[in-house]
Amino acid sequence: EFPSKVKIVEVGPRDGLQNEKTLVPTNVKIEFINKLSHSGHRCVEVTSFVSPKWVPQMADHTEVVQGIQRVSGVTYPVLTPNLKGFEAAVSAGCDEVAIFGAASETFSQKNINCSISESLERFQAVVKAAQEKGVRVRGYVSCVCGCPYEGSVDPKTVAKVALAMYQMGCYEISLGDTIGVGTPGCIKRMLEEVMTVLPAEVLAVHCHDTYGQALANILTAVQMGVSVVDASVAGLGGCPYARGASGNVATEDVVYMLHGLQIHTGVDLDKLIEAGNYICQALQRPNMSKVSCARSN
Ligand code: HMG
Ligand code: MG
Repeated sequence: EFPSKVKIVEVGPRDGLQNEKTLVPTNVKIEFINKLSHSGHRCVEVTSFVSPKWVPQMADHTEVVQGIQRVSGVTYPVLTPNLKGFEAAVSAGCDEVAIFGAASETFSQKNINCSISESLERFQAVVKAAQEKGVRVRGYVSCVCGCPYEGSVDPKTVAKVALAMYQMGCYEISLGDTIGVGTPGCIKRMLEEVMTVLPAEVLAVHCHDTYGQALANILTAVQMGVSVVDASVAGLGGCPYARGASGNVATEDVVYMLHGLQIHTGVDLDKLIEAGNYICQALQRPNMSKVSCARSN
């Protein structure tokens, strides 16, 4: 009943670093991304083409995209909230982007300064431009299990936004528990609703670990047929517009769990741990991966 393979989308350099107080030098980001590319990852999300006034950590997006070594077989998506971001990303040489919407009106306003329906219009323009240039687009839906401003979120709203983004032309929809409040029960009910309109094959889960539920939530999703999992090495991260959102689930812990289930990921755990330790040292912060802590003792 489990998929035989799971693809990990490594979001450490983007979701991880966007929320770190210490500004990470560009050359350190580049070295970090190169280490991740060489750990067997198939997809590393590298940065965001967002306003530097909103997210200063991602202001060096162009230098990062142009400085990394591209490993063949690895994709390097970047976040683009609108056409301006999309055009800058393409000029920098990106061939995959991600648009990011939400299932909560207030979160949409706080995060991207527009309503859900306005965001869908902007995304439509991005997808159209991307299709003309042969650029692949991934879609995110945030707040799938709860919103920092509105509390609980109706799974029907999640399904509606996910379907709209898929129908626009996103090849995959990543369902984000942005503030990590979800439990396996919540994930199951949400996925059951989304799966009435979209097949498991086009879905990913993106779990933050604020309440310590992320691994259980991912296990639930994988049992339901989801075979793409977003994670952040060393458990870096959070969202600057979601107070209380702690890091994403640590990639090392996800990989360890999946390998224990005999699910193939292609990721070399030792190399991954090394990449996580590298960035934690640069940030002078503790490594939040339990697996990494256990292996480093
Ligand atoms: P806005 O202020 O409404 O934009 O921001 P605007 O169109 O009114 O323009 C205002 C100024 O921003 C102008 O500059 C524009 O040129 C500039 P000015 O004339 O004042 O000098 N601008 C831009 N600059 C750079 N790149 C751009 C861009 N667009 C406009 N793309 C905007 C709207 C979306 C830009 C802003 O709200 C923003 O940057 N938000 C980003 C927020 C963000 O990055 N959040 C974190 C990522 S989402 C997340 O973490 C969740 C996720 O992990 C999934 C999950 O966990 O659920 C994905
Ligand atoms: Mg996130």
